[in-house]
Amino acid sequence: MSQRRKVTVVGAGNVGATCAQVLATRDYADVVLIDIKEGLPQGKALDIDQMGAVLGFEPNVTGSNDYAETAGSSVVVITAGLPRSPGMSRDDLVATNEKIVKDVTEKVTAQSPDAILIVVSNPLDAMCHVAKNVSKWPKERVFGMAGILDTARFSTFIAWATGSSVKDVQATVLGGHGDQMVPIVSATTVGGVPLRKLVSEDEIQKMVERTAKGGGELVNLMGTSAWYAPGAAAAQMVDSIMLDEKRVLPCTAYLEGEYGIDGLYMGVPVKLGPAGIEAIIELDLTDDEQQALQASSAAVREVVSVLKT
Ligand code: LAC
Repeated sequence: MSQRRKVTVVGAGNVGATCAQVLATRDYADVVLIDIKEGLPQGKALDIDQMGAVLGFEPNVTGSNDYAETAGSSVVVITAGLPRSPGMSRDDLVATNEKIVKDVTEKVTAQSPDAILIVVSNPLDAMCHVAKNVSKWPKERVFGMAGILDTARFSTFIAWATGSSVKDVQATVLGGHGDQMVPIVSATTVGGVPLRKLVSEDEIQKMVERTAKGGGELVNLMGTSAWYAPGAAAAQMVDSIMLDEKRVLPCTAYLEGEYGIDGLYMGVPVKLGPAGIEAIIELDLTDDEQQALQASSAAVREVVSVLKT
């Protein structure tokens, strides 16, 4: 019987399996991969365990269709739900995924009453509301993954445009996980140098646009939505919680007045530790950025307003 703590990933599709794979290579927790499809989580878990023999780590990944296996998890990552197909917006998934996220939240919270929930299913901001309303847990323990992914996309384009290492790009993308997300150019630097000193405004706007439509670009290329960066982004949040790293990462948090937004999940920088969200960081925004954030919040509210949960 392993003494390591447990992380559950619900959904053994591409995003869930990638998250489980990244966590397995981190090698500090046991991972339970859950899916309704029989054989799929078992098979992916077995494959990841066997990958450990090649790469030299000792993961303990269990695949199951039974939520009893998830009991006592410290963190639960919810990736269950339909992904986007070409021509679909994330918001088109709302009715189907609301039912799935509601059902999953009921099942995981019954097994792991003290866990932290990380929602990944789309439309992300609205699905965080579903998980919070169903679990009735405090906002510190229910939040979503989107900003790390959106920021990773922005950072990649910036590294390419400036010929720099992506490790030296410090970028932040706030707002909802939709086409109205808000890359914060004023707080974006490369090796400490403001982006606006390195790249023309025109080029920055092109990168901002490509970031905002970044998920759709991948759906158009692959016929389904992305998974490598999304899976790794969720795993990074798990790391910060489980290892008490206190990383400041853009996550989808329930706002109660921060950034002038009340009663809504939105992407903002937060400090993540064992308690979940330990602080919401308020950046100084330019007037344009603040306005863009308000527009993004209006778009999120519209989707949230159709929820039944
Ligand atoms: C994306 C989807 C997963 O942005 O929302 O790729």
